[in-house]
Amino acid sequence: MIPKILIIGASGQIGTELTQTLRAIHGVNQVIASDLNSPNNSSSIEGPFEILDATDADAIINCIKKHQVNTVYLLAAMLSATAEKVPQKAWHLNMTSLLSVLEMAKVGLIWKIFWPSSIAVFGPSSSKINTPQSGPMDPGTVYGISKLAGEHWCAYYQEKYGVDVRSIRYPGLISWKAQPGGGTTDYAVAIFHDALKTRVYNCFLEANTMLPMMHMTDAIRATIELMTANLDHVEKFKAYNIAGMSFTPSELADAIKLYIPEFKISYAPDFRQHIADSWPNTIDDSESAFDWNWKSQIDLDRLVSDMLTNLK
Ligand code: NAD
Ligand code: SER
Repeated sequence: MIPKILIIGASGQIGTELTQTLRAIHGVNQVIASDLNSPNNSSSIEGPFEILDATDADAIINCIKKHQVNTVYLLAAMLSATAEKVPQKAWHLNMTSLLSVLEMAKVGLIWKIFWPSSIAVFGPSSSKINTPQSGPMDPGTVYGISKLAGEHWCAYYQEKYGVDVRSIRYPGLISWKAQPGGGTTDYAVAIFHDALKTRVYNCFLEANTMLPMMHMTDAIRATIELMTANLDHVEKFKAYNIAGMSFTPSELADAIKLYIPEFKISYAPDFRQHIADSWPNTIDDSESAFDWNWKSQIDLDRLVSDMLTNLK
C-alpha cells in the first residue's frame, strides 16, 4: 500500500526535517504536516498543513478521513525538562495522543504508526555503559515515565490487536534546521548557536556529564529505515535502542575549539543535571543492528563541522 502520511507535531525539531525527508521520498501531497503551531520553516510550508491538537481524537480522525491517511507519525509530546515543570499536563499530552492513535489503528482507520520513545526510559538502576535494550528501567522524570508507559501500550496493542506500531528510543538529537523543544540534551544545540554568536557558552550541565547523542540526519534515516523494515522475524514489539555517539559538554567544547579556538565554555548546572545523571552514558544498539540492520554514520567530528558550517 502506498503510504499517505500524517505527521502530528510536525513543526518541532524532528518534525521539521522528517516532513521534508518524507515529502522528498513520497511526494509533497502524500505527507500531511500538522501541529498546534504553524511551521516556521519555509520548506515545511510547501505542502498540506493542518492545525491539529494531538489530544483531540475527533479532530485527528476528521483529518485522517479528510486526507485518506493510512500512516501516522506521532511526534507531539512534552520533552523532559519542560515536562518536569508541568507534570500533569505533560502526562496528558504524551499519553492521550498515543492512546488515541493506537485506538485508530485498532479499529482499522490507519495501518501503521511511528511513535518515538527516548533514552529517558532508563533510570538510576539501568546500566550506564552500553545500556542494553532490555534490563532495569526506573525513569525518574514524568517524561521518562510517559515514554516507558507508552512503550508498554504499544506492545499491548501490537500483541492484542495486531497493530503495526514502531518505535525508537532516540538519544539527544542535534540539528540546525529547527530548535530543540525543551529537553535535557538541548545544550548540545545551544552551544553551537552561542559559539558562533558570542564565542562563549554557559552550560546547564556539568563538564563531565556524558550522554548519548545523534545527528538529526542519522535519526531521520533510522526512523525511515525502521518504518520500511520487514520485521516479520521479530517476535514482539521493541522500542529500539539506537546509538550515534556519546560525549560530555567539555568534549563537545574541545571539538568546537578546533574550529573556533577562542570559544570558551563555563558551567552552571541546574535541575537538568539531576535528569542527565539518571540517563545512560552510552547505548548498546546491537538489537537494532540485528533486527533491521541499523548503523549510525555520523561521528562527532562530522557533526561539529556540519553544525558550524550550516549555522554560519
Ligand atoms: P519538539 O518539542 O521540538 O516538537 C514537538 C512539536 O509538538 C512542537 O512543534 C509542538 O508545537 C507540537 N505540539 C505540542 N503540543 C501539541 C498538541 N497538543 N497537538 C499538536 N502538536 C503539539 O519535539 P521533538 O524534539 O521534535 O520531539 C518529537 C518526539 O520525539 C517527541 O515524542 C519526543 O519525546 C521524541 N524525542 C525527541 C528527542 C530529541 O532529542 N529531540 C529525543 C528523544 C525522543
Ligand atoms: N532530548 C530529549 C530530552 O532531553 C531526550 O528524550 O528530553
